[in-house]
Amino acid sequence: MVLNLKLVREEPRRVTILGSTGSVGCNTIDLIERDRGAYVVQALTANRNAAALAEQARRLRPSMAVVADPASYRELKEALAGTDISVAAGPEAVVEAASLPADWVMAGIVGAAGLEPTLAGIRQGSVVGLANKETLVCAGDLVMAEIERHGATLLPVDSEHSAIFQVFDFDQSERVERIILTASGGPFRTWTLEAMESVTPAQAVAHPNWDMGAKISVDSATMMNKGLEVIEAHHLFPVPESRIEVVVHPQSVIHSMVEYVDGSVLAQLGSPDMRTPIAYALGWPERMEAPAARLDFKKITNLTFEEPDLIRFPALRLAREALQAGGAAPTILNAANEVAVRGFLEGRIGFLDIARIVERTLAAANHFEIANIADVHAVDAHAREIASALIAA
Ligand SMILES: NC(=O)c1ccc[n+]([C@@H]2O[C@H](COP(=O)([O-])OP(=O)(O)OC[C@H]3O[C@@H](n4cnc5c(N)ncnc54)[C@H](OP(=O)(O)O)[C@@H]3O)[C@@H](O)[C@H]2O)c1
Repeated sequence: MVLNLKLVREEPRRVTILGSTGSVGCNTIDLIERDRGAYVVQALTANRNAAALAEQARRLRPSMAVVADPASYRELKEALAGTDISVAAGPEAVVEAASLPADWVMAGIVGAAGLEPTLAGIRQGSVVGLANKETLVCAGDLVMAEIERHGATLLPVDSEHSAIFQVFDFDQSERVERIILTASGGPFRTWTLEAMESVTPAQAVAHPNWDMGAKISVDSATMMNKGLEVIEAHHLFPVPESRIEVVVHPQSVIHSMVEYVDGSVLAQLGSPDMRTPIAYALGWPERMEAPAARLDFKKITNLTFEEPDLIRFPALRLAREALQAGGAAPTILNAANEVAVRGFLEGRIGFLDIARIVERTLAAANHFEIANIADVHAVDAHAREIASALIAA
């Protein structure tokens, strides 16, 4: 973990929100608009939701608004006509937006599509709030090396990693015995395998505790999300994979824990509202106000914990195995999962096929060596091709 404490803080702070139209992006904007004068918005980006992006841009007046999908350019351009906001489209334009000088960048794009824009934020030495966990899964070692090289600061936004970050003693990291990641278990925690065979996309995206984008909701339902988070934790914190545990905690009150050699377990608690971990990253190293509902301990009667079931949720096992295998395996796992989740959301495969496709892609793919970001893209494309062919078969 690289933390460069920027003691002298310029006000207002220049911020860029990558993936501003998504769940994390909208929550970030909600916080910014509560103290509008404290920020200058440099850039906002989306994939193809030009209408929502234009509406945000008219309110926040960024220098630049960008859609990744060129087909949405015209709609965005027309919607922002008469403003001085520069409009662009395409993946390179998203990277250009992420390269505008900013003190703080929210990496809120979903999937490996967020890798290059997140790297662009890192390369200008900004403080980067990382929601886009797939960036660390597909290129963790390379991304962490870029952070070091450019003196950037990466702050976790995932609620679990924010929790760990808040209770992790970096000066005594060798005194940490375990990281305990909590998992809600998702909407099918108590379902049988037979029942899960016929899960629909609508059922899978209806998370019991969190309101999130479609992809992470499906990942939570398969528990691949927790697997991706084990990989993310491995890169963020100096603790080996064997000492990163997962425990199912259906109430999502404890967001994760760190156990020390004296037996003390430190936890961070809160209501399931992403504005708390986003505020922690946005305000860091200070705490800022966030409007999340406060916990009422008199009403919390039951905090329970269970062992994850790796038979019904094999994605968690696959992610751990990919991390243990190292090399290209996590990149292949991530790419195959993205393709399979899309296939499921589009009704082309069943829910349980997601993990099957990932497992078969990991077995069939060539595990090329990964030495640089170009290699990551090559492995990612290779794995997507295999996963797509498996879905089409
Ligand atoms: N949601 C949560 O509570 C939560 C919690 C922890 C971690 N995370 C992580 O945060 C990330 C974002 O999640 P989310 O739930 O906010 O996702 P989301 O609601 O689906 O939003 C994704 C954002 O990324 C944009 N986007 C999608 N594909 C893109 C592409 N190819 N190129 C550029 N931009 C693209 C979307 O634009 P359009 O609107 O135009 O599609 C949208 O702005 C994920 O990595 C997720 O795992 C989310």
